This record gives sequence, structure tokens and C-alpha cells, in this order.
Amino acid sequence: MSDSLETLRAELLAEVDQISDLKALEDLRVSALGKKGRITAEMKTLGGLSPEERKEKGQALNQVKASVAEALNARKESLEADALNAQLEAERVDVSLPVRPEEMGRLHPISQTWDEIVAIFGEMGFTVMDGPDIEDDFHNFTALNIPPEHPARQMHDTFYLCGEDGEVDMESVLRTHTSPVQIRTMENQEPPIRIIAPGRTYRSDSDMTHTPMFSQVEGLVIDKKANFGHLKGCLQEFVNAYFEVDDIPLQFRPSFFPFTEPSAEVDIGCSRKGGELKIGAGEDWLEILGCGMVHPNVLRASGIDPEEYQGFAFGMGIERIAMLKYGIPDLRTFFDADLRWLRHYGFLPLEAASMTRGLTP
Ligand code: PHE
Repeated sequence: MSDSLETLRAELLAEVDQISDLKALEDLRVSALGKKGRITAEMKTLGGLSPEERKEKGQALNQVKASVAEALNARKESLEADALNAQLEAERVDVSLPVRPEEMGRLHPISQTWDEIVAIFGEMGFTVMDGPDIEDDFHNFTALNIPPEHPARQMHDTFYLCGEDGEVDMESVLRTHTSPVQIRTMENQEPPIRIIAPGRTYRSDSDMTHTPMFSQVEGLVIDKKANFGHLKGCLQEFVNAYFEVDDIPLQFRPSFFPFTEPSAEVDIGCSRKGGELKIGAGEDWLEILGCGMVHPNVLRASGIDPEEYQGFAFGMGIERIAMLKYGIPDLRTFFDADLRWLRHYGFLPLEAASMTRGLTP
């Protein structure tokens, strides 16, 4: 091999050795082997040589080209390996660490209370029913003895939905209470009926004690003889079990709902001595639910003969009784999605509420 080719090879190999990043390596490859590269330029001189010289120089050039290409490839592989190692080093995860302990999930107090309600009424033989959040006028109002123009419609601060034409559709509402599930159940089930229906409800109302979305649980019992005494006994059982206090005093205050007659609002006894709220005997009362005997018009609208069947219904706010039991002072915090709040008021997800294991873990 001629001295000049030997020099060219030595220079290029030395340059390859100096390279420390992939971009510079690619530049070097182009400047040596590319169309306008130094080796390619030498190749182009072959045409002007004698056949002998051409053969000799051609072979020598091929050797130079091969060794430079090999050196470039080797360098490329080692630079790529270095880059991968650096990335792996930087992105290292310690798989033996606990799973994000600071983020451990908690059951929301509404879920917990919901589960407790289902556990208690389940034990009493109630089944759980469900209904749609988007209701029609008939199930939310008319069948519940709230005809159009009835003042109770205004009281409900209803959210109406828009139809496809973008206009308000007076037929389609976000349910303002869980009572429409009474109607749906009676439409689909023969008495005797004994159900609860926990669910989300919506009213256009927002202040210290109201949020536009909240949760209720509806109860409905229909058979031939269900009476107000049964309603009282049933609610007494529930509050004792739920608040885990024996014989909580109950007070039934006469009230009005279009879908029950007679109607009552129910208070539980409590004491506020020393600024601390205690559920049970005491000098004070707290309202917790509305109830009454199902109105004959409601039975009729649902296809049940009021001459043959009768029953009672009640509706209770889930956030409200959760606040009372767990000492949560502000309703709005239920919906703030604040992890610190949830860590404080939340429940361990694996300890399900049940009457036999104790309601509260
Ligand atoms: N639906 C009533 C409300 O939302 C509560 C209720 C239910 C009252 C069943 C009586 C019977 O205020």
C-alpha cells in the first residue's frame, strides 16, 4: 500500500477514535465514505490509472475503506451502548420499594355510608334498586303526584336537559330525588315490594348546606298491610344500627310531600353540650329524613291498585347522615377531591361494612 493511502487510513482511524457522540460520528462517516468523502475522492482517481496501477490501488483502497467502515461501526455500537447505559442508569426504578404509599386509596365517606346503609337494610330483607340519573318528567314528577304547575316543581330547582335542537327539553331532567325509583320499581315488580334505592340526585342549588349534586337513599315497602307503625319500627332499627347507639329517640313531625299521605319529617335526638354533637338522648333534635304512607295516586300511576295494596316510603340524604356520624363539618368538602381530606375522613378499602363484622372498620 502506498504511503499516502496508509496515512489516509491512519488519519481516519485516529479521527474515529476521537469521536465521542453519535452525531459527530455520522459527520465523520459522510466526510470519509460519503459521495464527496475523502475515500470516495480517491476512488474517482482510479479511472486515470493504468490497468496495473488501478488494480493495485483499487485493492488497497478497498482495504482502507473496509477498515474505516469497520472502525466506524464498532465506534457506533459502543457509543449506542454507552447512551443506553446512561439512560438506564438515569431511569432506574427500585422495584423493591412499596407501591406509592403516599397515594394509597381510601373509600370516600359517601361510599362507606352507602355501603353501611345497604348492609343494614339488606339485613332487614330489602333489595337494592337503581334508576337512571336522567329522568323523564313522568317518573320524576307526574307519577309522584306532582302534576304540571304544581308548586313543588319550583321547590325542586330542577336541572332540565337540552334536546337535539339545543332548546330546553321540559321532558328530560336530572332527577331531583331518588323517588322516581319508587315508580320504576312498582311498574316492574308485583307487590310485596321491599327495596332501597341509593343514588345521585341533582338540584340547582349551591351554598353552605347545598351542592348541585348530592346523594339520597329511597326506601319503599308495599304489601297488603304495611302501616305507619311498620315505618316507625323500620326507621328506628335503621338509626340504631347506623349510629351504633341503642334506642335513639325519634320524633315524627307532620309534614307535606305530594307523594305521601300522611307525611312526616323525622328527627333524631342529640345533645350539643360542651359544643360537641352527640347522637342519642339529649335536649336537641336533628332532622334526618322525610317519609310517609305512599299516596294512592302514586300507586295508581304505577299500576298498583290502592284498594288492594298500601305501603310506606322514605328518603334520606346520604351526605347529611355521613356528616352526622363521622363529624364532617362542611358539605362542600365531599366534592373537593382533596387527597388530604380523603386521607383524614376516608376508609380502608378492604374492610367492607357489614352487620356481622361491625359497620365501621
Ligand atoms: N323525595 C323526598 C325529597 O327528596 C323525600 C321523601 C321520599 C319523602 C319518600 C317522603 C317519601 O325531599
